Amino acid sequence: MQIREIMRSCPVMPVLIIEKTEHAVPLAKALVAGGIRVLEVTLRTEAALESIRLIAEAVPDAIVGVGTVVRPEQFAQAKSAGAKFAVTPGLTETLAAAARAADIPLLPGVMTPSEAIAALEMGFDALKLFPAEQAGSYGMLKALGSPLPQALFCPTGGVTPESAPKLLALPNVGCVGGSWLAPKDKVAAGDWDAITALAREAAAFRK
Ligand code: 3PG
Repeated sequence: MQIREIMRSCPVMPVLIIEKTEHAVPLAKALVAGGIRVLEVTLRTEAALESIRLIAEAVPDAIVGVGTVVRPEQFAQAKSAGAKFAVTPGLTETLAAAARAADIPLLPGVMTPSEAIAALEMGFDALKLFPAEQAGSYGMLKALGSPLPQALFCPTGGVTPESAPKLLALPNVGCVGGSWLAPKDKVAAGDWDAITALAREAAAFRK
């Protein structure tokens, strides 16, 4: 599945920080039950790679990807664990080459017009605007749409359930990313029903 197709599969890509591997499968199942199938598991915890492996094995309806990739070797590691796509907070030639070598679809992060043009030159036309709020969010995306209509964005960072529908109405926004679908306290408490409810609300943002 290519990045644009993945972006079309979900209006909101949850950014997941999984502290304990035993949370991975119930969390993924709770999100999928609410209609959110695309899951970005960030490499910010010890549990991340194993969590990707567990979700890929046990939740076939989920499209699990790896996030916060900042080192080239992480693409192949995540792909072997079962990641179907990768997300980076920024883009370098090294990361672009490593993603290509690992043959994993990449949603690279950009924050400025020059970075977006550089990413387009490297062959990426589906981009994460990160950090979206600091980059100007709605106004920035609207402004980028005119000179760079070929770029489709997933704004991430500071996006909320309140701001998401307006962002999704922009023609150059394919989906948005956010961590609000998996609040730390709800995950720690195993309140999967609350997470399914958040996912259901987010799934309804589809334009
Ligand atoms: C992150 O870096 O954690 C993501 O950009 C999500 O940001 P958010 O917590 O503002 O949704």
